[in-house]
Amino acid sequence: MPRVFVCRRLPQSALDMLFQAFGEQAVAVYPEDRAIPRAALLENVGGSEALLPILTERIDAEVMDAAGPQLRIIANYAVGYDNIDVPAATARRIPVTNTPGVLTETTADLAWTLLMAAARRAGEGERYLRAGRWESWAPMLLLGHDVHGKTLGIFGMGRIGQAVARRAAAFQMRILYTDSQRLDPTLEQQLAATYVEKNILLAESDFISVHCPLTPETRHAFAEPEFRAMKTSAVLVNTARGPIVDEAALARALKSGEIFAAGLDVFEQEPRVHPALLECDNAVLIPHLGSATMETRARMAEIAATNIIARLTGQSPPNCVNPQVLDY
Ligand code: GLV
Ligand code: GLV
Repeated sequence: MPRVFVCRRLPQSALDMLFQAFGEQAVAVYPEDRAIPRAALLENVGGSEALLPILTERIDAEVMDAAGPQLRIIANYAVGYDNIDVPAATARRIPVTNTPGVLTETTADLAWTLLMAAARRAGEGERYLRAGRWESWAPMLLLGHDVHGKTLGIFGMGRIGQAVARRAAAFQMRILYTDSQRLDPTLEQQLAATYVEKNILLAESDFISVHCPLTPETRHAFAEPEFRAMKTSAVLVNTARGPIVDEAALARALKSGEIFAAGLDVFEQEPRVHPALLECDNAVLIPHLGSATMETRARMAEIAATNIIARLTGQSPPNCVNPQVLDY
């Protein structure tokens, strides 16, 4: 009976770590290269001591019970863990781990990719060129907005938000941020970031980049009132979680010119994208690629494997998000 169930084929270095620690027989990997269907998940987890899900799998009480009482760790292959019912895991004394740190810089790079592409209309320009519509250089062709020297608003100043802020210094930007927790003053100073209330962030930012986790409080944090409060020249970037932004309201704001553009890596119902957003030429849309580099995806897998190996060999998993369960 496999001790470790891996929900999707991962970079080999991490599978090798698990094979080496427990033997190949003890590690089962869902063999198909697609998201594991719910029924297959429930069927396959039985008897596992460790689960390694990716963010498309909802790991709730039903899955934990299907696994059984010997389940000892859920090691998510993502930094975000809104796909896991952490209270249900805590109630069963199961540690949940994530993959923080390694994807910070990679995701910050992608937020900037979207920010620049939306500001300078790179997606529109590429579609225009590929459609054979480019006839000559023109003074007014596809004019965007400058990025340098503008105001960047960061919504959620955790590790990734801070990495986005550090990059903004090279663009001589003014940096505002809002978060449920204020940074310590030294860090604020290092980042040259000013803490403001959300309404100020909305009113004064030329660019807003979202970096908070998805929680009941942040769901639809960007909806009709927020878009109305933003500048008509503003660009919204979301590399965090789709449901933080109300997609239908965003599409209306993009179409009516309430804001200038958006760059989205995440969506409310992935892999579906709101049809109204697909009609917006001023939306840059990419398929949840925040951490998608060869280097980072391998490191994320190795972290998930490290957490499993630690737990099943009697040590504390290093990236536990509910450490209270380790005190028992
Ligand atoms: C990806 O979205 C992650 O949370 O790691
Ligand atoms: C994620 O790593 C964050 O804290 O932003």
